[in-house]
Amino acid sequence: MTSKSIDQDTNTPLGDGGKRYLVTAALPYANGPLHIGHLAGCYIPSDVYVRYLRAQKKDVKFVCGSDEHGVPITIRAMKEAVSPQQVVDKYHGMIKESFEQMGISFDIYSRTSGKVHHETAAAFFTKLYNDGLFEEKETEQYYDEKAKTFLADRYIVGTCPVCASPNAYGDQCEKCGSSLSPEQLINPRSTLSDAVPVKKKTRHWYFPLQNYEPWLKQWILEEHKEWKNNVFGQCKSWLDNGLQSRAMTRDSNWGIKVPLPDAEGKVLYVWFDAPIGYISATKELTDKWADYWCKEDTKLVHFIGKDNIVFHCIIFPAMLKAHGGFVLPDNVPANEFLNIEGDKVSTSRNWAIWVHEYIKDFPGCEDVLRYVLCANAPETKDNDFTWKDFQERNNSELVNNFGNFVNRTWVLMHKLCGGKVPKLHDSILDDTDKILVENIQHSTLNIQHSIEEFKFRDALFEVMMLSDKGNKYMQKKEPWIVAKKLESSNASPEGGDLEGATQKSIDNCLHLCLQLTANLAVLINPFLPNTARKMLHMMKVMDKMLDWQNAGKIKLLSVGYSLREPQLLFRKIEDAEISLQIEKLKSGIMKTEEQSQKSEVGHQTSGLKPQIQYDDFAKLELKAGTVTACEKVEKTDKLLKLEVDLGTEKRTIVSGIALYYKPEEVVGKQVIVVSNLAARKMKGIESQGMVLTAEDSNGKLHLLKPENPVDPGSNIS
Ligand code: MF3
Ligand code: ZN
Repeated sequence: MTSKSIDQDTNTPLGDGGKRYLVTAALPYANGPLHIGHLAGCYIPSDVYVRYLRAQKKDVKFVCGSDEHGVPITIRAMKEAVSPQQVVDKYHGMIKESFEQMGISFDIYSRTSGKVHHETAAAFFTKLYNDGLFEEKETEQYYDEKAKTFLADRYIVGTCPVCASPNAYGDQCEKCGSSLSPEQLINPRSTLSDAVPVKKKTRHWYFPLQNYEPWLKQWILEEHKEWKNNVFGQCKSWLDNGLQSRAMTRDSNWGIKVPLPDAEGKVLYVWFDAPIGYISATKELTDKWADYWCKEDTKLVHFIGKDNIVFHCIIFPAMLKAHGGFVLPDNVPANEFLNIEGDKVSTSRNWAIWVHEYIKDFPGCEDVLRYVLCANAPETKDNDFTWKDFQERNNSELVNNFGNFVNRTWVLMHKLCGGKVPKLHDSILDDTDKILVENIQHSTLNIQHSIEEFKFRDALFEVMMLSDKGNKYMQKKEPWIVAKKLESSNASPEGGDLEGATQKSIDNCLHLCLQLTANLAVLINPFLPNTARKMLHMMKVMDKMLDWQNAGKIKLLSVGYSLREPQLLFRKIEDAEISLQIEKLKSGIMKTEEQSQKSEVGHQTSGLKPQIQYDDFAKLELKAGTVTACEKVEKTDKLLKLEVDLGTEKRTIVSGIALYYKPEEVVGKQVIVVSNLAARKMKGIESQGMVLTAEDSNGKLHLLKPENPVDPGSNIS
């Protein structure tokens, strides 16, 4: 290979004829601060993608904003005893700041409480209404007669039929993870007033999704087979199960008023208005918004988390199709979830790592978090974030690999080449040199292909592999040893020749290492923009050097150019810092558990459950049983599936005790079973009864058992 071919353009453009791109990231609910699960799910990947497109000189707009309507906001307002507007103002500000600090480079970060959005969403609704595309239906919904308002499932709480937690929501028990419907709650009550919810008729506008089913099947299942497996799979299962009409309005006084004369107290469903927020934000950003939304050659890409798939792949596209005149998403690269230290993120249990706290605790380490969340991104399955892994990746990958390569190059260049870019002597290039150059070009292509396929982990891994190759190259060439030899030979009579040859090989090594460093700056830039910027500073070059077309070239730094002193790119993270974070995480959850226990106690002393008669108690059939088999329920952290011998029969019982018992510990134990409880499906398993537990002061559950062993099936009274 000659250095001429090295300089040829190795960068195939995106192969799309220079389209314009509109990239969106899911609008986060303004009901709490940002946590690292948000970043890993969609904001880091979308930012990497957009920074790459910008470096490719593409016409791209990156839009996002706060999702400020809907039940989560009103619940938070209630909890904090403030107005919904106060809630969204507070969290919108916090979220926006966290994004800025983490270098998420939106062209606009808007909010759905804004005027443009209210008008845009209302006009969208009106168009569908005028075109006769809604069905008007009257149904029965839960109503709170004291608070005089309809209740979303989340507003109804009661005792969980599975784990007996007294504070389960109408849609889910956060303690045991079971998904519920309000009918299943024992002693349901309204969170607004404690009143018992009653059913009441209400009228709403429904969007008949089933009418769009044939078109959706064609569009997704035939024309978008390239979508990520997790996304395509979810779409397919929704489409295979058949779509149904979905209400696009709600009874509430927080949200966008339904723009019809007879719709007092009705607002647009939050999932109707929020995605329209992408359009509103683009409108606020540029007068040319219609180019991005209406011209066929726009590539619209929605970055989201997996819980948003149906809304972005089915409902919103059907809305856009029904409205007409808009482009449809070209791709929806959704990520799965990021767990923390082996447990699901739960904001109510404070099992989360908050971005604003990270920034405070690790100032100047924003790129480290970007690195770890991208290197460990939940792209194809749920992944786990652990503080140990964070430390390990920082210390071994960023400090010892990438940072070390750049630092060594700089130190040696100053020491052995007078602080200037040395010459490249073509005549003595050897195979090791040539292979390094080939690797730079090869990696560049791999990285861009991976980014274009939304495989950001692979892309980042390839960048790190390249710097690792740089370290190995340096290790093989050992310019410091060559320099020593040179020094000693200078003292000897025939030093002249030797000096020429060895100084040339030192030059070649450092020339190539410097060019590799410049390449690494271009390649790392979409992922770690602050790091790339520090490298630019050391190289004394302009931002323009980060243009993607420079990647794969080895003439980025000119011979003779003098460079700055090295600056450390990353610092080591100490064990003590990590222990502190782990403690902080664990103490956060202790605090909220104490709080919730207090409130549970409060409810009990205020007489949560009404008195019952003996006849009520006699309705329960309680039996002693022996557990004969037990296993974890897949895809849950809390549930165990037990097989319980009741003497005359064996029952399958699902119980929320997995956090406290290993399956093998339960086998052989005697338990007390409510044996005449109606069977219920949990995570696809029919649970035929319930086992009784006692909760200790730490919230830990203990199985109840007879004091001495009894025959399976013995009556309990
Ligand atoms: N707020 C939603 C969530 O956090 C996401 C809304 S995305 C949009 O799950 F499409 F509605 F904008
Ligand atoms: Zn429960």
